[in-house]
Amino acid sequence: MTSPLALPDREQALAHAAGLVLDSWRGFDRARPIQPALDEGLRARLDGPLPERGSDAGDALTLAAAVLDASLSQPRPRYLAYVGSSGLEIGVLGDALAAAHDLNAAVATGGADLFERQALRWLAELIGFGAPFDGLFAAGGTISNLTALAAARERALPGFRASGGDGRPLALYCSAEAHYSVRRAAELLAIGSRNVRALPLDGRRRMDVAALGRALAADLRAGVVPVAVVATAGTTLTGAVDPLDELADVCAEHGVWLHVDGAYGLPAAATASAGALFAGLDRVDSATVDAHKWLAVPKACSVLLVRDGGALERTFGHHESYIPHGAELTHPVDRTLEYSRPLRALKLWLAFRVHGAAAFRDAIERNLAQAGLLWRLLSDHPRLEPLHEPELSALCFRHVACASGDVEEDRAATAALVRAIEADGRIYLAAATLDGVPCLRVCFVNHRTTDADVEAVVEVVDELACALGAAPSPAAA
Ligand SMILES: Cc1ncc(COP(=O)(O)O)c(C=O)c1O
Repeated sequence: MTSPLALPDREQALAHAAGLVLDSWRGFDRARPIQPALDEGLRARLDGPLPERGSDAGDALTLAAAVLDASLSQPRPRYLAYVGSSGLEIGVLGDALAAAHDLNAAVATGGADLFERQALRWLAELIGFGAPFDGLFAAGGTISNLTALAAARERALPGFRASGGDGRPLALYCSAEAHYSVRRAAELLAIGSRNVRALPLDGRRRMDVAALGRALAADLRAGVVPVAVVATAGTTLTGAVDPLDELADVCAEHGVWLHVDGAYGLPAAATASAGALFAGLDRVDSATVDAHKWLAVPKACSVLLVRDGGALERTFGHHESYIPHGAELTHPVDRTLEYSRPLRALKLWLAFRVHGAAAFRDAIERNLAQAGLLWRLLSDHPRLEPLHEPELSALCFRHVACASGDVEEDRAATAALVRAIEADGRIYLAAATLDGVPCLRVCFVNHRTTDADVEAVVEVVDELACALGAAPSPAAA
């Protein structure tokens, strides 16, 4: 008897879906002049009641593709907000294949686990994490950071997972510009976000190492248990890379776990031009790398590399009666907090296998050069100003139209400019605040972005800021 959920004409549906995917890839190859709005007809079609009877898969897929086409897609070459992703084509195919098999990468799969082992090894080699290493794939940098810090807490206070600690206060240390996932982890791990020591920055917006030494010494004197130091290798705001070697010295002196949040920036460790910034990576206890950011594969594909895999097992190992274990039978679930776990590794494995490490290095170098190009264009521009030199590929800048000196006025002008940029649709970026200064921020992580797209940022921002009327127009200037 046929399954009630068998897909009629599945060959046709697959061919149709493949055509739609190809259309979207062609659409991502070049920037488009506008960001189309979702038309009312499509909006209405997304508002209907639950269908009692099914309908044609081809029509449903066409409708889905039309709605997606009017949505904000990060793979477009001029999507420069936040830290985007690129929907790498081979990764999309890997996701489709992995979803078709739909295995659960939480328990031993008898084969697919090997993708995870090999992709981890290739990634560690690419960025120079060094041996020994172990690790896992996770749903985003937030989860990888949480996982690492859970392991660090269990090492700092063995048995915490069972007993809830011994009443002593705990603390985490990071720079003032660390990602908020560090505070979130502190909240979830009963460390408390107030016990995150957000340390001052040095002149390059990196964690001040001397301040870390002082904070650790003061906490140890006061009976506080240091759980971990979280270095950021590529801050979200400006791309600053904390000095890993010096931080490793301090952590070694005090016996504290050193975790690196390289969710955004760590792939740049593979490049000739930025690699030196990451010196000391071979001395850290753990590192987060989001392959869905600068390694271009579709979301979400975060990797946590750890020096000691046993630390994960001591933190997450569970022996349930319905999951058989044995000397030869171990399960990824004993090292992670997820149970139903898609095979995230396949898309990264395919990406390395199909493109090779050199292509990734080249793509990242291009993005680094694009940040440098934008910095030069802004520096030479009469009405635009970069707010810092790029360490990696993120850059904050502002327009004179949004630089009156009155913070509230400038915040409102910057917000109006971002709204104008969104309505215009040629580029996409977001507002940020740097040292209290309202500004615009871009981040280059997309392999499709070209130098012409970088030039478009300058043209579009200047044109729209002048059109808002707050600045002299290019002709008058
Ligand atoms: C430095 C850093 N850490 C962590 C994260 C969180 O990653 P995810 O969004 O994959 O959870 C981000 C996100 O941009 C980030 O830039």
